[in-house]
Amino acid sequence: MHQSKILFRQLFEKSSSTYTYLLADPESQEGILIDPVKETIERDLKLLKELNIALKYILDTHVHADHITSSSELKEKTGAQIVLGKATNVECADILLADQEELKFGGLTIKAIATPGHTNGCTSYLCESYLFSGDTLLIRGNGRTDFQEGSSETLFHSVREKLFTLPDSTIVFPGHNYDGHLMSTIGEEKAHNPRLGLNKSFEEFKEIMENLNLAEPKKIDIAVPANLKCGRN
Ligand SMILES: [Fe+2]
Repeated sequence: MHQSKILFRQLFEKSSSTYTYLLADPESQEGILIDPVKETIERDLKLLKELNIALKYILDTHVHADHITSSSELKEKTGAQIVLGKATNVECADILLADQEELKFGGLTIKAIATPGHTNGCTSYLCESYLFSGDTLLIRGNGRTDFQEGSSETLFHSVREKLFTLPDSTIVFPGHNYDGHLMSTIGEEKAHNPRLGLNKSFEEFKEIMENLNLAEPKKIDIAVPANLKCGRN
């Protein structure tokens, strides 16, 4: 990615350790937000105003279980359209992107890559050499597969066939990180991801995923129904 040709900001929401990403074309001043969070909507609106960005699309990587999206409120305040992956079937979305479908903002293009597994509707987004992997591929990890139609087998295939086939230099920006990492690369995850790295078989991955014994996310009963309505209560 030509740094001079794109405006990029990585933003963080502390209570759910969620990353929100802002991308914009500095010439046309059109931009998008990926995975914006309800708690940080004022910060994000202020930043858009300060940088003079006209928000065109609000993209969610999936129907989140751990935080509520600010997409409907952002739409009301900016007129931007709400975008999710086709398999989410979220009714309040303006656009449901199928695998490999693209959207344009200014001179930039973002492509949807259907990567089910953490949830059935998970979609990663690729803009030039930046991959926004949601909870499908995390840094040295991956999203859990024990609810919302999650499947370790589906996730394994999504990562190995749809993401690990991208160039090694592709920069990975995940949906969350809990220990201070901001970004990785496809090459780095192929070599060092302890669950999905190329030295692991599907059987080994499945065994790991079946023995995580994770508690339910605290907000799941509130967040999933709210996110199916684009963040409305
Ligand atoms: Fe998630």
